[in-house]
Amino acid sequence: MSQNNDSLVRLPLPSDGPLDPPAEWKRLRERCPVATAELPSGDTGALLTRYGHIKALLSDTRFSRPTAEDSGARIAPEGGGGASTNSDMSLSVPQKGEGHLRWRRLLGKYFTAKRMTALRPGMTAMAEGLVDDMAKSGTPADLKAAVGFPLPVYVICDLLGAPAEDRDRFSYWSDAFLNVDRYTGDETKGAHSAFLTYMTDLVAAKRARPGEDVISMLIDESRAEGEGLSDSELVATGMGLLVAGHETTANMIGKMVAMLLADRTRWEQLLADPSLVRTAVEEVLRSDANLGGFGTRRYLTEDFDLDGTVLPSGTTVFCLLSAANRDERAFPDPNALDLTRSPNPHLTFGGGIHSCLGQSLARTELQVVLEVLLRRLPNLELAVPVPELQRVEGLTVGGLREVPVRW
Ligand code: HEM
Repeated sequence: MSQNNDSLVRLPLPSDGPLDPPAEWKRLRERCPVATAELPSGDTGALLTRYGHIKALLSDTRFSRPTAEDSGARIAPEGGGGASTNSDMSLSVPQKGEGHLRWRRLLGKYFTAKRMTALRPGMTAMAEGLVDDMAKSGTPADLKAAVGFPLPVYVICDLLGAPAEDRDRFSYWSDAFLNVDRYTGDETKGAHSAFLTYMTDLVAAKRARPGEDVISMLIDESRAEGEGLSDSELVATGMGLLVAGHETTANMIGKMVAMLLADRTRWEQLLADPSLVRTAVEEVLRSDANLGGFGTRRYLTEDFDLDGTVLPSGTTVFCLLSAANRDERAFPDPNALDLTRSPNPHLTFGGGIHSCLGQSLARTELQVVLEVLLRRLPNLELAVPVPELQRVEGLTVGGLREVPVRW
């Protein structure tokens, strides 16, 4: 890889305000689009920030996320960072090759536009219940804790066909898997084994009495294809959906509301024309500067040529999706948050063979929350000045610690 002096970058990059992008992104895109990233572990990898480069790499079907058997760059030093840091969604969901494509094809059948339309009224009722509870407990409130955190976990429980009374246990497990500061190693291990036991029983129950949930659909679909997913793959899929779909969406709900209220003319524009909710959600997804400081990773199993710069086989590549989303080569006036922007081909859900399977669900959740808030709490505003918002200093998923609001 060709290197120059300004190509070594320590991740995560700092930025001025909690909603602002690091100034360094622009310099990297312009002057050093293939840089060297140094991680907290001390390991290094290649760092990409341009839209075209990242899209080309993610679209290349030869490459996947680094797995335990690859000698990829580690983010956290040994012993730090928790289970999900270096091997997201491990367990036994196939991570690469034919097995992954088959798993993806089967699971992808669940997230149809028709199903999202069918899920919408239930989701709206959940969001209304949460917003009403928040309103009852009085202003100010933390919107992330009151709405952002519970809604996606309730949605995932419904998706898996778990009864509503188990929602609190799911919330606890999910938090314990991802929130490495709040729980001891033993608590995290305990949560893993409790979740595995729960999911194993749930899979057995769905095999005996299928329902409308994703596990029943997977059992049915894989039978129809001749070769069923094993019980451990089904259990791992439940775990994967919780890990991939809870914290990400919870944080995005909080960031969406913060970004829209940071300049209240945006909120007023939406109140005046609620039909902008769809494009507004896409624009918030594009403009989010807190997707996680290490980006999306790929492990190169062959040399990869990027406009003449050859990244050698064995390199871990860090793709800063949110830097790509502000690339002036792909988006006119990329730093303007334009609620009417269309088309908006942002990379927030990744791309290629690992692109987010739950993106239609995440979009529906974000749209529903925004619609309900505009309707129920039109006077909503941030209860603290923007610079006082605190970032989550997590290792993988980025967001705000709290989103204090009043109305
Ligand atoms: C706003 C919320 C979300 C964001 C920003 C997000 C983002 C992403 C990204 C960037 C990837 C690609 C990772 C990679 O290329 O290595 C991904 C993969 C994935 N996401 Fe999401 N996601 C969100 C919500 C969800 C939800 C709600 C679900 C399901 C309940 C979900 C399920 C998945 C799954 C299963 C994968 C793995 C796909 C594969 O490896 O083939 N995500 N997500």
